[in-house]
Amino acid sequence: MPRSVRTRLALWHTLVLALVLVTFTVAAWIFLQRLTEERIDRSLADAVTAFRQAVLAEVRANRSADDAVQDVAREFRFSGRRVLVYGGHHSLLAISDSTRDALTRAISAIDDADDSPIHPLFASLTPGRSTYATVSAGGQQVRGYATSFTVGDQSFTIVALATRKWEQAFLTSFLEATAISIPLALVLAGLGGYFLARRSFAAVVDMGRRASSIDSDSLDARLAVRNTGDEMDELATVFNDMLGRLERSFVMQRQFMADASHELRTPLASLRAEASVTLSSPRTTQEYERSLEQVRDDARRLSVTVDDLFTLARLDADEHILQPARFYLEELLMDCVARIRPLALDRGLTLDFHPGVEAPCAGEPELVDRIVTNLLDNAIKYTPAGGAVRVELETADGRHLVRVTDTGTGIPEDARPHVFDRFYRADAARTRSLSGGAGLGLSIAWRIARAHGGSLELTSSGPHGTVFTLVLPGVP
Ligand SMILES: Nc1ncnc2c1ncn2[C@@H]1O[C@H](COP(=O)(O)OP(=O)(O)OP(=O)(O)O)[C@@H](O)[C@H]1O
Ligand SMILES: [Mg+2]
Repeated sequence: MPRSVRTRLALWHTLVLALVLVTFTVAAWIFLQRLTEERIDRSLADAVTAFRQAVLAEVRANRSADDAVQDVAREFRFSGRRVLVYGGHHSLLAISDSTRDALTRAISAIDDADDSPIHPLFASLTPGRSTYATVSAGGQQVRGYATSFTVGDQSFTIVALATRKWEQAFLTSFLEATAISIPLALVLAGLGGYFLARRSFAAVVDMGRRASSIDSDSLDARLAVRNTGDEMDELATVFNDMLGRLERSFVMQRQFMADASHELRTPLASLRAEASVTLSSPRTTQEYERSLEQVRDDARRLSVTVDDLFTLARLDADEHILQPARFYLEELLMDCVARIRPLALDRGLTLDFHPGVEAPCAGEPELVDRIVTNLLDNAIKYTPAGGAVRVELETADGRHLVRVTDTGTGIPEDARPHVFDRFYRADAARTRSLSGGAGLGLSIAWRIARAHGGSLELTSSGPHGTVFTLVLPGVP
């Protein structure tokens, strides 16, 4: 089987056409053969009827039956048909006038032969009945029709004969014509089919050629859409959409790598600078202690960022790697709040949570804890002293809603759509100097919520505070 789809299509197309044409020819051949046979038979019956009527007319005019038969036979002309009249004991009485044609020769051969093939015609003949038969003689096929009739007390048998020469020639011509036209039609159809397939597949071949030249450096390339609205255009559009998505995720990936290395470079540079400055001259014990504390803080920041990146990479690789365990969300929230409350108090804030419902969940509690910790960390970070942070838990429709509300500065309107973006900080300078956050907290929290089949949304934000809502599916 050829590998090219174009060739295969053209071959299939030709094969189907060949089957149709051959079936049609066979059917037409059978039909034509029947038709010509019927035509001959009808003309033979007509010849016999005409002959008998002519004889009867003569007899009515007071001629003897024998004379009438002889006369009518002499005068009888019926194109291409010969009539033979036999009397008792199958003796040939008369033969219609003949032109010197193939029929005459055939009939002479038939009649001269001892085992004349006309005789079997009589065998099956009973008075008043007729019979047809095909006999061959002198290399010719001769169709015969015999019938018997009586005039007075004399009985005669009339045999009409006709060669199938004309009909056979007609059928042979038909076969010759189809023998030439069918292969010709098949060759034309095959070539036509191949060129059509070639034309249709030209777009696919072109797409393949272009697609093979697209790599990660040329993801902005697109396949040509010819705007014909056909399947090829649809394919090109689908392919282009896919390239668009790939390009976007590549760009995001590159951006992420750039941001990640930037975030790691800063604390590393700070570490090196701190160590170099400290080592550049002899220091007092207190100075060494301060320097080491600085190094410890930088290292902590570094490890938090690396930890965040690791969590994101792990969830991006496969969110099904979660090992879900059953836990109670209200207990987890209580633990979180208890852990963070000292920090809030330290900053002059209140942190409230009053668990009212039982909220069984399935998931990795350590990861869900990260969401809540990040939300509380932000709330505390961005709320000035004297403010309040509140955690609420509700259960509805089999889902648990955790609302974290603060009375902080709020998120600027233009920053709201981006707070879940990786490395996004609404006010980089401010947040960096305050706490050194990398801008990963909310994106990790959002990713974890999604991996748990839930969601995290910024419900509202304004000058009087911000509300984030975490939704997690509950378990019975
Ligand atoms: N409760 C909030 N009030 C005001 N602004 C907020 C609040 N939560 C988040 N933001 C804004 O959204 C940005 C993104 O938050 P995110 O937690 O992702 O980063 P981050 O807190 O700056 O750094 P990280 O969480 O990695 O330490 C923050 O920089 C801050 O500007
Ligand atoms: Mg944060």
